[in-house]
Amino acid sequence: MWLEILLASALGLVIYWFFSGDKEDTLPLGDGWWGPGARPTAPEDESIRPFKVETSDEELNDLYRRIEKVRLTPPLENSRFHYGFNSSYLKKVLSYWRDEFDWRKQVAVLNKYPHFKTKIEGLDIHFIHVKPPQLPAGRTAKPLLMVHGWPGCFFEFYNIIPLLTDPKSHGLSDEHVFEVICPSIPGYGYSEASSKKGLNSVATARIFYKLMLRLGFQEFYAQGGDWGSLICTNIAQLVPSHVKGLHLNMAFVVRNFHTLTLFLGPRFRKLFGYTERDMELMSPLKEKMFYSLIRESGYMHIQCTKPDTVGCALNDSPVGLAAYILEKFSTWTNSDFRDLEDGGLERKFSLDNLLTIIMIYWTTGTITTSQRFYKENMGHSFLSDRHQRMKVHVPTGFAAFPCELMHVPEKWVKVKYPKLVSYSYMARGGHFAAFEEPELLAQDICKFVGQVERQ
Ligand SMILES: *[C@@H]1O[C@H](CO)[C@@H](O)[C@H](O)[C@H]1NC(C)=O
Repeated sequence: MWLEILLASALGLVIYWFFSGDKEDTLPLGDGWWGPGARPTAPEDESIRPFKVETSDEELNDLYRRIEKVRLTPPLENSRFHYGFNSSYLKKVLSYWRDEFDWRKQVAVLNKYPHFKTKIEGLDIHFIHVKPPQLPAGRTAKPLLMVHGWPGCFFEFYNIIPLLTDPKSHGLSDEHVFEVICPSIPGYGYSEASSKKGLNSVATARIFYKLMLRLGFQEFYAQGGDWGSLICTNIAQLVPSHVKGLHLNMAFVVRNFHTLTLFLGPRFRKLFGYTERDMELMSPLKEKMFYSLIRESGYMHIQCTKPDTVGCALNDSPVGLAAYILEKFSTWTNSDFRDLEDGGLERKFSLDNLLTIIMIYWTTGTITTSQRFYKENMGHSFLSDRHQRMKVHVPTGFAAFPCELMHVPEKWVKVKYPKLVSYSYMARGGHFAAFEEPELLAQDICKFVGQVERQ
């Protein structure tokens, strides 16, 4: 009898753990200071300074010298991308990088949008701020914060920005015109890295919220995938009244009872409200929801535990850095690309655009600091963080891209985001949605904003 009571209590606890949301509606805003040494007593300089990306002969010569001294291990026969980046294909990328890629030209591309920096919580925060070149009479632009993830950066948004700020010139409806703000996460690209431990997604969310206030936006839309999805979610949890709508192309729904229902068999899946499309996107179940996640998340375990060790190698070698990052742009765009000899990289992206991302990490020397974000978010208290348990009470739109690493059915999204107003099965595309399918993503953002504004 005691055993039964014990078992019943244990079961009760598990059920309680699954269903007990935090009763609070908002996360405490808190405060932070992440610069080196002690926090100065003088108030922070709040000016917003223009910034331009620059390069030099010295930077390029150093890069070329390192590429020329490359030392690679030949791939196993017929291994394609199964063992990681195929080094024979990498040689082709390197010869393009060394002899054809024009970094100066790409720097000019980067500078076509206005960049700024401003100090927040002791760190110089970088962002681009793009306003519409023209607005229909009597209309104002809607502020939209777009946040990148790893191993991406603000450059991922370069092709979607014109579709949002100047839709008419690109053959799209101008019912909604946006002004777009894309910051760099601290420690990524041109945003200064923290000197202190603990700068996680919630702190980043607070920093970006302060940035939006400093720019004069009391209310704004927020969009993101990857870390950007979590950071924007956290903003909505910190200051829900400032977020008009949250649009995501990835969702972290870890504390979710519904995931268990998947394993009850196909008949039950229908009963639990999964659509045919959900079942298609999640099958074969063991492969899609288990093995592939194990196979593809080794990097995450490293970065959650010892980011600095692998960072020493990657920050010292442009070749290693390119292999490490580009492998993600291959497999996360389409997991079937592992079976291709060239990883399918150039099917969806140009080498110029991919190498621009590598160059932003390389020239700023930020791969290690970017990887630390995993440790700060998941290395200590994954699942037990307060924001993981909290729902989000802001109108939400979700774009489910079919080649995303893990499909998240509408039911699961709704658990965390009860105000889900739009859920779309996207026609094509994977993890780097804005970079890969800017037009599809832009259309879905507009559809969502239309639904929010009509409410
Ligand atoms: C690696 O890539 C090259 C170039 O795309 C290709 O010719 C080669 O077959 C690939 N090697 C393996 C082992 O798959």
